[in-house]
Amino acid sequence: MKKSHLMRLRYASFAVGLALAAIAALPVASSAQPATQPVTQPTFTPRDEDVKNFPEGAGRDETFYFCTACHAFKIVTQQGMTRDQWNESLNWMTERHKMPELKGKDRDVILAYLATHYAPKAQTGSRGWQNPFAPQ
Ligand code: HEC
Repeated sequence: MKKSHLMRLRYASFAVGLALAAIAALPVASSAQPATQPVTQPTFTPRDEDVKNFPEGAGRDETFYFCTACHAFKIVTQQGMTRDQWNESLNWMTERHKMPELKGKDRDVILAYLATHYAPKAQTGSRGWQNPFAPQ
């Protein structure tokens, strides 16, 4: 009588042990199913941006496609500069980063777009609250 009681106790603790082992193994088991894993994001390429997400205006397409030959347009749009400062940036982009030199009308068009839509940040304060998630 006493013996079988002991056996039961042993069996019970063995069962608990099994259950714990099963729980411990759960995350491993579920990660073995690729279908439940989030799809890994492809690495960013500048062309993932859509020209339509940026303010419309003369020179938008020219500026977007010219600058995104090398990097995200976001790098450009997070800046706020005067026309002179944009002009300097284009020089710097050519000297430092081998951007094809922009000349004549092309340069005017792109500078006008940049200076109009990406002017120094202080000036945008008067426009009130800005949606931080809206493309700039
Ligand atoms: C030939 C390649 C090339 C082209 C074309 C180009 N850039 Fe760049 N630009 C670079 C590189 C390289 C960097 C620095 C690396 C980075 O941040 O990705 C950079 C960085 C920048 C930065 C960031 C500077 C900073 O202080 O962080 C700005 C602003 C910028 N570019 C503006 C422009 C604008 C505006 C145009 C289009 C008129 C343009 N770039 C076109 C190569 C280029």
